[in-house]
Amino acid sequence: MEQFICNHCGTTYEVTLTRWRCDCGGVLNIDKPMPVIDPAAWNHYPNSLWRYVETMPLSSDATMWEAVTMGEGQSPLIVLAPAEPETYVKVDYMMPTLSFKDRGAVVLMAKARELGASKVIADSSGNAGTAIAAYAARCGISCDIYLGAGTSPKKVAQVQAHGANIQEVNGTREDVAAAAQQAVTDEGAFYASHVYNPYFYEGTKTYAYEIYEQLGKAPDTVIVPVGNGTLLLGVYAGFQELLANQLITHMPKIVAVQAEQCAPLVEAYRHGWKTAAPVQNQGTLAEGIAIAAPARSQQILEAVRQTNGTFMTITEDEIGEARDILSGNGFYVEVTSAVNYAAYAKYAKAPGETMVIPLCGAGIKSK
Ligand SMILES: Cc1ncc(COP(=O)(O)O)c(C=O)c1O
Ligand SMILES: [Zn+2]
Repeated sequence: MEQFICNHCGTTYEVTLTRWRCDCGGVLNIDKPMPVIDPAAWNHYPNSLWRYVETMPLSSDATMWEAVTMGEGQSPLIVLAPAEPETYVKVDYMMPTLSFKDRGAVVLMAKARELGASKVIADSSGNAGTAIAAYAARCGISCDIYLGAGTSPKKVAQVQAHGANIQEVNGTREDVAAAAQQAVTDEGAFYASHVYNPYFYEGTKTYAYEIYEQLGKAPDTVIVPVGNGTLLLGVYAGFQELLANQLITHMPKIVAVQAEQCAPLVEAYRHGWKTAAPVQNQGTLAEGIAIAAPARSQQILEAVRQTNGTFMTITEDEIGEARDILSGNGFYVEVTSAVNYAAYAKYAKAPGETMVIPLCGAGIKSK
């Protein structure tokens, strides 16, 4: 039976409704055996990320996730341009709530349901809150979403439409998280946090599984936007599991992307630090990755370094240009998601290098 294990001090805890952090303050991982991956089993499941359910530490009672799924996952992997057949975009904006966060939210909410949650609380810059609100509605669980006062009105409207109670907080992204965490403690509710709850990463790891299925191999390089690292850590875990099962022969390089205006991880990477020091968010259009103090910075930095990857920063002008180029080619992404293409445009790609660029949020979500 899996348990939680602290990333900092190694203390283990039973997986319960209310445990979301170590008593030492450290973030929790799931202590579980390396999953045995059996691709032959995948076709027994619906065409969604639930093809990979046997690799997830969830109850074997399928009714638990069947009541939660909305068909998320299995997003298209498309060649960016005919002239560059080895560069792909993965169109994760084709999801129930129009961002990749549905991957993590659906698995996290399946776990919440399995644990018997009657109420969940989450904080978000927008998309994770939207996803949690939708899946909470889907499984009839009451939901409070804490959002900053400046959240994109379209994301707020989406959260509201799902019937979640919106708690607007004036202050930084960290103030929003602190308010949610206080409410979790006061109410004894389930903290459906995409940052702290490691079950979220069991969902985002399916991004790697899908790429493997679609390409039939690991790409050489994956570009990943990073704020709190929910896609990045999922991608890393997914490829690690595929590698341990000898389905792929190498780990792809992770090229992690931050906005120049809010880049604590890039700062840490350049200085060779193990963890990131908090920075001041200078204000960026890339609202989804504007995280000044990422709680899992140590794991993110380790993952990028272990894959021999790198970090890149994107300016505000580059974000706008990238969004225009993508739109001009038919792909309408939200502003945050344009950083991925901006990074690709600056990246010194080797001839024949197979790359994947995520299109991870839909254009109608932002200005
Ligand atoms: C569209 C989009 N891309 C990337 C990210 C970054 O994800 P994370 O903060 O988990 O690294 C987010 C987060 O909200 C997002 O909404
Ligand atoms: Zn600890």
